[in-house]
Amino acid sequence: MAQIIVVTSGKGGVGKTTSSAAIATGLALKGHKTVVVDFDIGLRNLDLIMGCERRVVYDFVNVINGEANLNQALIKDKRCEKLYILPASQTRDKDALTKEGVGKVLQDLAEKFDYIICDSPAGIETGAMMALYFADIAIVTTNPEVSSVRDSDRILGMLQSKSKRAEEGLEPVKEYLLLTRYSPKRVSSGEMLSVEDVEDILAIPLLGVIPESQAVLKASNSGVPVILDQDSDAGKAYSDSVDRLLGEELPLRFITEQKKGFLKRIFGN
Ligand SMILES: Nc1ncnc2c1ncn2[C@@H]1O[C@H](COP(=O)(O)OP(=O)(O)OP(=O)(O)O)[C@@H](O)[C@H]1O
Ligand SMILES: [Mg+2]
Repeated sequence: MAQIIVVTSGKGGVGKTTSSAAIATGLALKGHKTVVVDFDIGLRNLDLIMGCERRVVYDFVNVINGEANLNQALIKDKRCEKLYILPASQTRDKDALTKEGVGKVLQDLAEKFDYIICDSPAGIETGAMMALYFADIAIVTTNPEVSSVRDSDRILGMLQSKSKRAEEGLEPVKEYLLLTRYSPKRVSSGEMLSVEDVEDILAIPLLGVIPESQAVLKASNSGVPVILDQDSDAGKAYSDSVDRLLGEELPLRFITEQKKGFLKRIFGN
């Protein structure tokens, strides 16, 4: 049975697309046939981050409207054997995603894939609701700041009341917290909430903590999911998160401030 995973947040710009690309790539690297679907109609960021923007011919909305079939619209990742991308449409029509249409496409994808990762748009409008409606698992992407935590809490309410699982009285959507853009230094100085603060407020299991990292911007500028940069802290933290999603228990890394060593303190970098 395919698992449908929504990467959601409420608040915009917290790292959903970065995380969707990284987690989908990580699952595929672990041998699971994975597709990542861009629900952000009109914006289309995912194909840029995955580095396949020039290969987009047909998209999600074309498939819903019967203008193309899935095989025509799915883009096979060039680096990773088991990974595919279903790009978003650039149409301005926000109602292009219907529940029936999305349901049918996800059902067809479920026959071909082990994991379906849904990259949600920001907010709680139609696109975001469509992205979470069919989910089995939700990765609630949150930055360690009050406004982001507040919006994540709203999304948790939506998952518990507006998802298909809630509507049908099935086992609830499994919710995980992914804390992104975490800066231990700014936590120490009191500018940001700590891991414990956010866990206390949202009270859902922690999937991982991704540090604030220059490597993320570098990776997205070159169209390479940051998880493939295993020299970076962010890449390693995403790998740990994927392993936890697959059931491994791993300690958290990169959550304390790196103190400069003795020699560095004396001689600088
Ligand atoms: N761990 C990180 N360290 C540094 N920058 C990051 C990190 N994660 C994300 N970013 C940056 O934050 C910005 C927003 O990221 P991204 O597009 O993934 O967010 P989003 O939640 O998908 O946004 P939207 O709500 O607009 O879809 C990007 O510029 C990205 O490079
Ligand atoms: Mg996005």
